[in-house]
Amino acid sequence: MVPETIPALSTARVRRCRCRTMHIITAAHLDKDAVRSVHLCAFPENERDIVARLALDLLAETTGPPVLSLAAHYDGTIIGHIAFSPVKIDSGEDLRGYILAPLGVRPEQQKHGIGSQLVQHGMRVLAGNGVHILFVYGDPAYYSRFGFNAETAAPFTAPYTLHYPFGWQAAVLNEHETPRSPATITCVHALCDQKLW
Ligand SMILES: CC(C)(COP(=O)(O)OP(=O)(O)OC[C@H]1O[C@@H](n2cnc3c(N)ncnc32)[C@H](O)[C@@H]1OP(=O)(O)O)[C@@H](O)C(=O)NCCC(=O)NCCS
Repeated sequence: MVPETIPALSTARVRRCRCRTMHIITAAHLDKDAVRSVHLCAFPENERDIVARLALDLLAETTGPPVLSLAAHYDGTIIGHIAFSPVKIDSGEDLRGYILAPLGVRPEQQKHGIGSQLVQHGMRVLAGNGVHILFVYGDPAYYSRFGFNAETAAPFTAPYTLHYPFGWQAAVLNEHETPRSPATITCVHALCDQKLW
């Protein structure tokens, strides 16, 4: 069942957030109830539980390079969340990749550019950290606006069979040679579930 109230944030975070401007923070384990709540109310009933669990699993996942988990904060409340996790690419080259999942914005806050700001902020951070390619498995009608496309993802095989192959896309963050033969990617443990693909 979707909670009707938004879980309170830790005092420290509320203090940091007296202004009424939306800003983006790194989500921490302390924010887990608020992050869970975002995805439970953003996603349809048949997806909300598995996506909320993924978001929390990624918050707890310790990897090198690390998961990037960002929250949109407004007036003391987390209203949106996005995660980017590293992938291994077996191309034989030093190709550094991440995958975007999940992304959710509270329904009453949608269509105000929050989702776009979360995606673009994360892309800037990853590009600055030398990541070459960012994958996403989602609706091309949304993600194409950020430079994701199926052509860039084509040389890379997703780790699981895709229910919607047209949703497999990638965006180049830093130029790098494309693999000559198909390369398979491997995700972090939290994404290793066929039901997510
Ligand atoms: C997708 C989502 C994160 C976008 O967040 P947002 O803050 O509303 O995004 P923005 O304000 O930056 O962009 C809104 C635009 O995206 C469009 N949009 C949202 N979801 C879309 C989709 N699946 N396909 C195409 N366009 C979509 C909106 O219609 C709106 O269009 P407009 O700019 O022409 O008005 C939000 O709608 C959401 O949480 N949806 C439910 C969960 C979900 O589907 N997550 C993405 C998984 S692929």
